[in-house]
Amino acid sequence: MDQESIERPKQTAGTPLLEGRPPKVASRGANVFYGDKQAIKEVSLDIGENEVTAFIGPSGCGKSTFLRCLNRMNDTIDICRVSGDIRLDGQDIYDKSVDVVELRTRIGMVFQKPNPFPKSIMENVAYGPRIHGMITDKASLEEVVQGSLERAGLWEEVKDRLDTPGTGLSGGQQQRLCIARAIAVHPEVILMDEPCSALDPIATAKIEELIDELRENFTIVIVTHSMQQAARVSQRTAFFHLGELIECNDTEQIFTNPEHKLTQGYITGRFG
Ligand SMILES: Nc1ncnc2c1ncn2[C@@H]1O[C@H](COP(=O)(O)OP(=O)(O)O)[C@@H](O)[C@H]1O
Ligand SMILES: [Mg+2]
Repeated sequence: MDQESIERPKQTAGTPLLEGRPPKVASRGANVFYGDKQAIKEVSLDIGENEVTAFIGPSGCGKSTFLRCLNRMNDTIDICRVSGDIRLDGQDIYDKSVDVVELRTRIGMVFQKPNPFPKSIMENVAYGPRIHGMITDKASLEEVVQGSLERAGLWEEVKDRLDTPGTGLSGGQQQRLCIARAIAVHPEVILMDEPCSALDPIATAKIEELIDELRENFTIVIVTHSMQQAARVSQRTAFFHLGELIECNDTEQIFTNPEHKLTQGYITGRFG
């Protein structure tokens, strides 16, 4: 399909959430540049609390770039510049007064490739709480480690080998360990960038099940190249194309009756 000839939607001032709830995270007019090249254009998007929001769209459309705006991970990329307004609970996360380290404990991240530290399973989970002063004694250490591993659905599989290296686990277990590590510092939002793309179908199913459980306590944003996965795990789906947010709506609506031709084209496999 000739992408230039497709009628482009007008960017709206943001896609309202249902039930008039305030968004957990809200972006208005976000732009991202790598040097002179614009990767994200005027993205306005609301992310609902205790929901899973999926970001979909063709490779290179800016899903990871936009995700990284939400906890200022783009700050770590030298040539990257972000403008616009992004808020967590109504507070501007790019304000000068914001402590970025604290922000990233409130908005944690799980990456595509499981990346446990080269330390024991126990230490992988205890690391964050320890550097943030959340662990005061052995009892609180054990509580945090067990609680996080339980919530990540990994406790039963590793409780007898907490002192063994995290890197010795299977891929799926390593990813759940990374989720446990993210949970351990009590984040409010968890960003996941294609968390299952390195995993087999059984490990993927476990992570998807876990995501569904986690949304009771956390707000989750997941980038996925799998439309089936977006349909299975998310309540809302945002479709990106060439750096623009084309539409964001209830997941069911996006997959059954999208508003824009570009979305229709992507979900029916005509491009991407
Ligand atoms: N660190 C970077 N430096 C320069 N350009 C980048 C960098 N990361 C991403 N880009 C560019 O930004 C655009 C969006 O990339 P990305 O956010 O990774 O897309 P997606 O996650 O949807 O595949 C692409 O054109 C990509 O080449
Ligand atoms: Mg990406």
